[in-house]
Amino acid sequence: MAFMKKYLLPALGLLLAYNYYSANEKFTPEMLQGKKVIVTGASKGIGEEMAYHLARMGAHVVLTARSKENLQKVVSHCLELGAASAHYIAGTMEDMTFAEQFVAKAGKLLGGLDMLILNHITNTSLNFFHNDIHHVRKSMEVNFLSYVVLSAAALPMLKQSNGSIVVVSSLAGKMAHPLIAPYSASKFALDGFFSSIRKEYSVAKVNVSITLCVLGLINTDTAMKAVSGVMTKQAAPKEECALEIIKGAALRQEEIYYDSSLWTSFLLGNPGRRVMEFLSLTYFNTDRFINTSEFP
Ligand SMILES: NC(=O)c1ccc[n+]([C@@H]2O[C@H](COP(=O)([O-])OP(=O)(O)OC[C@H]3O[C@@H](n4cnc5c(N)ncnc54)[C@H](OP(=O)(O)O)[C@@H]3O)[C@@H](O)[C@H]2O)c1
Ligand SMILES: *[C@@H]1O[C@H](CO)[C@@H](O)[C@H](O)[C@H]1NC(C)=O
Ligand SMILES: *[C@@H]1O[C@H](CO)[C@@H](O)[C@H](O)[C@H]1NC(C)=O
Ligand SMILES: *[C@@H]1O[C@H](CO)[C@@H](O)[C@H](O)[C@H]1NC(C)=O
Ligand SMILES: *[C@@H]1O[C@H](CO)[C@@H](O)[C@H](O)[C@H]1NC(C)=O
Repeated sequence: MAFMKKYLLPALGLLLAYNYYSANEKFTPEMLQGKKVIVTGASKGIGEEMAYHLARMGAHVVLTARSKENLQKVVSHCLELGAASAHYIAGTMEDMTFAEQFVAKAGKLLGGLDMLILNHITNTSLNFFHNDIHHVRKSMEVNFLSYVVLSAAALPMLKQSNGSIVVVSSLAGKMAHPLIAPYSASKFALDGFFSSIRKEYSVAKVNVSITLCVLGLINTDTAMKAVSGVMTKQAAPKEECALEIIKGAALRQEEIYYDSSLWTSFLLGNPGRRVMEFLSLTYFNTDRFINTSEFP
């Protein structure tokens, strides 16, 4: 016990601190130049801002959401800003067939794929949960299941490019708040699923990075309308938020935290979980599960 206190815990602490704070590479906008990127939920809000940043950096983008009119506007603005190319494909992520076909079409338009940015959510209002099972199911389907379908469809292309999956989540995907139980459930599900497959990729040497983005309150129209009169918290700017997501993705970080409070990443980073995950890997006979014909 004394040994643990004296050496092991400080050593683990240092290791974790190193993991967290060492960016061995610096971000430059050229990292996105000519890259082939999909952004979902790109007709407004943070998705729209990400599309504009990518356009300025000279990326090829394919955008999606339901509203054709909005997507059309965003695409023309992307072209003005200097996108290498910009297209949209409209449809609803309630429809898993659309999700799958969307990736195939986008891959054809782009001629491959470097980055899949998953950002859309179904509309949500702040309410006590009574018995709206329909909204729970819809939240799980649109906010979670379609993310799984989209990334499964994109994986072959991402493997070829050593690409990246970017999952936009929320503080509500790491901690509990009242009034958003179905939304929170869908965001926690993203962490469980994508953090698990990140372990699988690491074991199977699949070089596709997964960046989970934990965002605080951001000043998009939708969020400001939803929290108006219900919450008093300072909202952070959507433009900077969008840029931080792209930076974290380009640097292949596992998680990024973006919130108006600087304490958030420190308090929610959960070093205990990292240690448990590191130790638990040693209990698995992982080599028995690797199908070498699927993971060359
Ligand atoms: N804003 C915040 O305070 C905040 C905080 C934490 C996390 N986040 C996360 O950040 C991401 C973006 O949030 P935001 O505030 O930018 O939201 P937003 O402005 O409302 O944008 C949502 C996007 O999703 C699309 N969408 C909605 N329903 C859809 C459906 N059924 N199928 C396909 N697309 C659909 C919307 O376009 P259409 O309506 O045209 O389909 C829109 O492009 C979300 O993952 C959210 O959870 C936001
Ligand atoms: C989402 O929007 C639809 C159509 O505008 C509306 O019928 C539904 O009640 C909204 N759902 C939530 C949870 O706000
Ligand atoms: C992907 O990474 C592997 C090994 O790191 C490298 O050999 C290969 O050239 C890379 N492929 C691309 C398209 O960058
Ligand atoms: C994974 O791909 C990235 C991006 O191409 C590359 O920088 C990195 O060296 C690759 N890592 C491994 C272990 O192959
Ligand atoms: C391994 O993958 C190949 C191709 O996907 C499949 O045909 C085969 O059945 C798999 N083998 C095992 C043992 O899962």
